[in-house]
Order: sequence, then C-alpha cells, then structure tokens
Amino acid sequence: MEKLKRKIAISNILLGFLISLSGLGFLEVVESLGINYGQVGNNLPPPCEVINLLKLFKITKARIYDTNPQVLTAFAKSNIELIVTVDNQLLSTLMDPQQALQWVGTHIRPYFPATRITGIAVGNEIFTGDDTTLMTYLVPAMVSIHAALVKLGLDQFIQVSTPNSLAVLEESYPPSAGSFRSEINEIMPQFLQFLATTKAPFWINAYPYFAYKDDPTRVSLDYVLFNPNSGMTDRNTNLHYDNMLYAQVDAVIFSMAKMGYDGIEVMVSETGWPSKGDPNETGATAENAAIYNRNLLRRQMKDEGTPLRPNKRLEIYVFALFNEDMKPGPTSERNYGLLQPDGTMAYNVGLSPLSSSSSSSASISLTSDATQVKQREYKTLLCSIFLFLPFFQVFMSRQRLGIFWQ
Ligand SMILES: *[C@@H]1O[C@H](CO)[C@@H](O)[C@H](O)[C@H]1NC(C)=O
Repeated sequence: MEKLKRKIAISNILLGFLISLSGLGFLEVVESLGINYGQVGNNLPPPCEVINLLKLFKITKARIYDTNPQVLTAFAKSNIELIVTVDNQLLSTLMDPQQALQWVGTHIRPYFPATRITGIAVGNEIFTGDDTTLMTYLVPAMVSIHAALVKLGLDQFIQVSTPNSLAVLEESYPPSAGSFRSEINEIMPQFLQFLATTKAPFWINAYPYFAYKDDPTRVSLDYVLFNPNSGMTDRNTNLHYDNMLYAQVDAVIFSMAKMGYDGIEVMVSETGWPSKGDPNETGATAENAAIYNRNLLRRQMKDEGTPLRPNKRLEIYVFALFNEDMKPGPTSERNYGLLQPDGTMAYNVGLSPLSSSSSSSASISLTSDATQVKQREYKTLLCSIFLFLPFFQVFMSRQRLGIFWQ
C-alpha cells in the first residue's frame, strides 16, 4: 500500500508537470513525433504509466528494443504505433522459415491488432557490428520473418527492416558523394532488394552530435543544432543544406541510388543529443540537447522533407524517452532521455520563451482541481492492477493445468 501511495504521488507530480506543459503548447510541438523507448534502467516507471506519459505528450509512435510482453500488453488499445525489435542473437534461428513463423505467432500475432505493431526491427546495427556472420544471417532472417507475416496476413500492416548506424557509409560529404563502405558492398544489394520488394524503408541511426564531438573546432555547432546558419551547398546537385541531419539522410539516399535503388524511403530510426557527458564529450550539455530536440520537433511539425526529397515527410524517432542509468560506456550514453526516470523533464524541450509561467500553472493544475486528481489516482490504481494481471493469468493457467493433471 505504501508503494502504491508513493506511485500515486509520483504520477501526480508527473501529470501535473505534463498538464502544465500541455497548457503552454508543448503538446502541439511534439505531435506525430516518434520516440525510442529504451529500458536499460533500474528505476523506470512501469509500461502502463509510460503509456499515460506518451498520451499526454501526444506521442503517437514508439519503438522498443525487444518484444517485452508487458509493454506489448500495456500498449493495447492505446492507438500508439509500436516498432518492436528482434534481438541480434535470434537471427540465426529465425533464418529458418518455420522458426520465424513460430516466432511471429508467439511474439507478434497475439498482440495485434489491439497493439498497433507497425514494424519489426530485425537486429540492431548489424552491418557495422563486429560479428560478420550476423551480417550473412540478416537478410535471410528478414525474408523469413516477412514470409511469416504474409502467411498470417499481417504483412500489409507490419514492415520489416533493420536500424543501421551511419557508419555504414564510407562517404557522406557532400551528400551526393554518399557511398556504402566497401566491406558491405556485396551484401547491401540483397538488403536493398528486400526493402524495395517489400516497400520497407531504410532505417538510419544518425547523430550529428557525434560529428560535432569528434571535431568541434571545424564542425559548426549551429549547423548540427538546426540553428540559423549559412549551411552548405552540395556543388554536384546545387542542393542547399542548413543542417547536418538532412545532409546525412540524403547521403544515404545517394548511396542507395549508386547501387541502383532509387525509390527506397529513408526513416531516421534514432537521433538525439545527450544532456550530459564526460569532460571530453564536447557539446553534451542540457542546453544543446534542448536546442537540438526543440528545433527537431519544430521541423517535424512542419512535415519537412530533406532537400533531395522536399515533398516526402522525413519520419524521425528521437532517442530517447528516458535517461537510462544502466547503459555502459561514456556518461553521455546514460543521458539521452527527454525525461528523467521519475517522469520529469530532463531539460526544457520546448518552453524556454514561456518557462517563467510554467511553475505557477503547474501548481494550479496540481491543487485546484480535486476531481482531476481523483481521476488520476484512479488511473494509477488501474495501472497497478493491470500490472498484476499477467501474473494472475499465469496463476489461473497453472490452476487449470492442475485440474487437467488430476
Ligand atoms: C574521455 O574521458 C573518460 C573519463 O572521463 C575516459 O574514460 C575516456 O577514455 C576518454 N575518452 C577519450 C576518447 O579520450
């Protein structure tokens, strides 16, 4: 009970924050934004509370890094689109069509369509990993998973792709010079052929922050942060770029075109900016993170495309929803979240011109409306009950089994 009370208290604080943000136009800013919901933390709220957070932010698309049944269940009827991920270690098994069918039958089918699964990420950054055998498993696994979706009548709803690190490119500057690394030149056409036939997008994880951190004296901070700047013109195409992210995306498009694939869509499966870093991680500050994400959200609001495909809205999934305290590596790795684990903002994403009024309206929304608070408590209670439901179901089926065996 004490725990429940604490939970209610936390969600009230959190909801108060969000309600105050929504009153200031934040909700408009993040409409139709995708977000990566990573869970490498020991202090994150349960999925059903996360659902409430996403709804309040009007975030309509999310990606998880597994097929956690608890998350898939919590997302049911939420109307939030969800991309799930197949672990790298499963690729060898899932090359087998029979195994892939079984996997989709267990991890996808039972949740669909109540949970709006729209994509399966097969592995993560395989083409730039150390394990070259995984590369040879990737396309066969994608083919088998897609075939399983076809067999179950789900392929019209669920895309199959894989997120790629920007390091798949050997050249990315200027964008028209874009080309894939020679080591993966042989495998790329198979992969692109799969995307072309199934009409799935190429997913790229693109972090202009890395480019800045590696060379802060030569890379313009304004250019990587989407701030006003003179930008650069690609002399081969005469296309003008005012930010690095769009240039990186167009470099991917040119790389694919060089292999004969012109029509494949590109989606940014991850981009973001850390709000904290080690002393040698130049640029990893809350201020820069706020500017990057705020400017990015504004661009998303305008449904912008890149200079090469100005009329095709660039789909973007921001990394990440939460700071994740158990991520290994430099300090920045644990500080990409828009939110702290307790649901408060890690920094001010869209509110700086209005922030002076935010604290007062937060307290108003917390204290002035007793029925709203009641409703929120009720919601959190439901959320907690919901959490126990799977355990209850397991308990029930054990009981049934017991009867069966007697
Ligand atoms: C950056 O600093 C951290 C400690 O603050 C250190 O562990 C790491 O090796 C450094 N990285 C580089 C590239 O110098």
